[in-house]
Order: sequence, then structure tokens, then C-alpha cells
Amino acid sequence: MDIVICKSKEQASYMVAAYIDRAIRKNPRTVLGLATGSTPILMYKELIRRHKECGLDFSQVHSWNLDEYLGLEGTHPASYRYFMNEQLFDHINIDKANTHVPDGMATDYEAAAAAYEEGIRADGGIDIQVLGIGSDGHIGFNEPATSLSSRTHVQTLMLGTRQDNARLFFGGDLAAVPTRAITMGTGTVLDSRVAILLAFGKGKAPAIAGAVEGAISHMNQASALQLHRDAKFFIDEEAASLLKHADFYKAVYADSDLRSLEA
Ligand code: GLP
Repeated sequence: MDIVICKSKEQASYMVAAYIDRAIRKNPRTVLGLATGSTPILMYKELIRRHKECGLDFSQVHSWNLDEYLGLEGTHPASYRYFMNEQLFDHINIDKANTHVPDGMATDYEAAAAAYEEGIRADGGIDIQVLGIGSDGHIGFNEPATSLSSRTHVQTLMLGTRQDNARLFFGGDLAAVPTRAITMGTGTVLDSRVAILLAFGKGKAPAIAGAVEGAISHMNQASALQLHRDAKFFIDEEAASLLKHADFYKAVYADSDLRSLEA
């Protein structure tokens, strides 16, 4: 695991965008796994800037999003399809036909989940999976006690997760937050070639400490990334504040090629 402790969320977002930029220029048909939530927004802004000002070309890029609420149409302002269009896809030259978000309106969820898995496989697999983290350690919507080898599935959401996300539903209407979602599994995430997790702020510090320095446990789904062949955490000082070995991770970083991503 590479643990990159950044001065600010701006710096972390810049570095991750720079990493993705390099990958796309090297392989224009890069398959991205994308995440929603407030955390990746600045990184998406930096990708948009690179598209507009530096010629970053998304015309051959494919994308697969982690998750979607059950029961929300893509036109619903709190749906993840709507979020992705607004925060990224509408501002770059990606072909929307090559962007995928699980269908929250599917009637046969099991068939939709299996088709999503097959779609990722047929697309060549995910080259770079972007992740945020829930305060309970969830990645995608894989809540505690989900199998660490799970594939795309329907997931009941914890009350705390719905409370965290309620701010995006008409200014905090908990009753409007769906109780279930369709999400890539943690096993699906582990299949990605590179996994990049972003986390900012004190609220994420316990989840980050568990994921990086805790035992691998289904109670903190992000801890499964300890088994990933190439996982990179880009976190700010606050999210890193409960890590016991932060100085060591900084020393490792100082010797690494990842420094070349800095502005
Ligand atoms: C939701 C998403 C996750 C995301 C998490 C954290 O639960 N399903 O993919 O990582 O929110 O959101 P935020 O970045 O807003 O803290």
C-alpha cells in the first residue's frame, strides 16, 4: 500500500488527477472506476481543467461507477448518474455511451448486478479504481459485515451512512434517502489493476486508521485493500491524524516516484 499524506485536499486531488492524466495519455482507452460523494469533486474539477486547458482527451476512455441508490432515476438530482454527469461527464469529451452507472431502476436486481460484472469483464477490467471511504470504512456501498469477496449486489444501507448522505437529499431529508443501493462488491474493487482511495478531514480518521493499520476485517471494508496488488491512499493530514506510523509513510513517500505527481 502506498500511503501519501498530503498538505491539503487540493494537493491530493491534483496528484490523483495527474496520475489519471498520465495513464490516459499512455493508454487512451483506459477503463476508469469512478466514485461519487464530496471527496472526489476537486479531483474531477482538476481533470476537467486538464481537458479544457491541457488537451487531456477522454474520447476513448470508458468508465464504471461504483454504485447507485435503488429506486432513483438517473434524472433524480441525488442519483449518482446525475452527480457524475454534473461533476464530470458533461464537461469533458467522454462518450456517454461508454460511461456506466449501475441501474437503480432495474426490476431484476440480480440480473442487473450480474450484467454489470460481466460488462466490466468484457470491457477488459478496471485499470484505475477511484474510491472514497465512508465513516464506517465502506467502499462503494459495501457496509460492515459484507463479504470481502463480494461481487456487484444489492446492499441495505446502515442508518449512519444514510444520515451522512442525507445532506444531498433536499438539504437533509433522511426519509428521502433510499434504504438500499446497488454496488460493486469489495471483491470487484480488488480486481482493479490500481485502486486509489481519497480521504479528507477528521471524520475519516478512524476509518483510515482501521483500513491502513487495523487487521483485515469485514467490519472495515477498506481494510481489504491491504490485499490489493496496487492500492494507493491519498489523504490529508486530518484523515491521517490517527495513523501511528505517519512519519514512516512520509519517509517511504520521500523515496518514491509518486513525488513526481506533485504540482
Ligand atoms: C457514499 C458513496 C461512497 C463514498 C462515501 C463518502 O456512501 N457510496 O462511495 O465514498 O459516500 O462520501 P463523501 O466523499 O461525501 O464523504
